[in-house]
Amino acid sequence: VTTVRLAVIPGDGIGPEVVGEALKVLDAVAADAGLAFERTGFSLGAGRYLETGDVLTDDDLEAIKAHDAILLGAVGGVPGDPRLAGANIERGLLLKLRFELDHYVNLRPSVLHPGVASPLASPGDVDFVVVREGTEGPYVGNGGAIRVGTPAEVANEVSVNTAYGVERVVRYAFAAASARPRKRLTLVHKTNVLVFAGSLWKRTVDAVAAEYPDVAVDYLHVDAATIFLVTDPARFDVIVTDNLFGDILTDLAGAISGGIGLAASGNINPDGRFPSMFEPVHGSAPDIAGKGIADPTAAILSVALLLDHLGHGAAADRVRDAVAADVAERGDANRSTTEIGDAIAARLGATVGAH
Ligand code: NAD
Ligand code: IPM
Ligand code: MN
Repeated sequence: VTTVRLAVIPGDGIGPEVVGEALKVLDAVAADAGLAFERTGFSLGAGRYLETGDVLTDDDLEAIKAHDAILLGAVGGVPGDPRLAGANIERGLLLKLRFELDHYVNLRPSVLHPGVASPLASPGDVDFVVVREGTEGPYVGNGGAIRVGTPAEVANEVSVNTAYGVERVVRYAFAAASARPRKRLTLVHKTNVLVFAGSLWKRTVDAVAAEYPDVAVDYLHVDAATIFLVTDPARFDVIVTDNLFGDILTDLAGAISGGIGLAASGNINPDGRFPSMFEPVHGSAPDIAGKGIADPTAAILSVALLLDHLGHGAAADRVRDAVAADVAERGDANRSTTEIGDAIAARLGATVGAH
């Protein structure tokens, strides 16, 4: 049995609700996979900030680093809550973790499972993955404002793109495309307007493409990519894109492939120097928090990505198969968060319902 030290950050809103179900499913597959998860819970997020004034202390960060992987629910308070005006939980916690732990690949698969309703009339066979850059772009916090609150205010937010940072994520995307049956890679950017960053991304993709003659490469401007994600999502296989475009495209990708409640993600440090972090694409959903109706499937599928990352692809496939079987039979039934988690865990052999 291999022991895996797992840091668990339930977070805010529906975060703890969906993480509870994800852990249930993890427990259901761990033993058969020869894994024992040694969990440490971390109380972090808007709730912790309101209690203690801390967002993420150095001690928290060091303690998290001592783990093999991280499972996160969602963080962030109710938008507009005046008590949170002095803090930025998203930047100070979530992005800080992604940056400090060098999660340069933000992996966000989209699969439209049979039986799942899509808002698209004829979506076709949707099965693609967005490889979103995770440590650069407009997210780096390279910005500032002057004369704030005056008519002469200037507010800047600079997108940082380095040759090193772009090349490593592009290489990851090509390797991923090469390992998939369709072997297609689409660069999404806005090279017609963002000429400097666009040029760097385009030249990097062209250069790496020469090493992958088996991968068919194309390019789309991000605005056009949103058209095709709606009119012909089946055309996509691997999309590689920058941090901000990837954020926006993956909410859209979630919506067309069954809803944001099914969209999983992995913030990966492929070098293995730091623990990778797995979390649903969605946020803390203050509008439905506490009602027990959040869909835990995205968190459960994030556990599958965690298992992939740990080298346990067979266990990951078992989780995905259980989810596929569950969603195929969902119909219109309005099940609770717990009922969905129990049903998926039960398919994996767990004895559930004893809570
Ligand atoms: P959100 O993803 O929380 O919610 C958007 C909509 O999707 C809401 O109507 C919500 O009810 C619904 N939804 C989300 N997850 C669902 C699920 N599992 N099942 C059913 N419905 C679901 O986005 P938002 O409202 O823009 O943000 C809310 C807070 O979460 C903000 O503070 C934001 O910064 C934060 N956030 C955090 C993360 C993260 O922790 N990774 C991601 C996105 C947003
Ligand atoms: C996501 C979220 C985050 C992002 C926010 C909360 C910082 O929207 O994980 O998609 O923009 O990356
Ligand atoms: Mn997002």
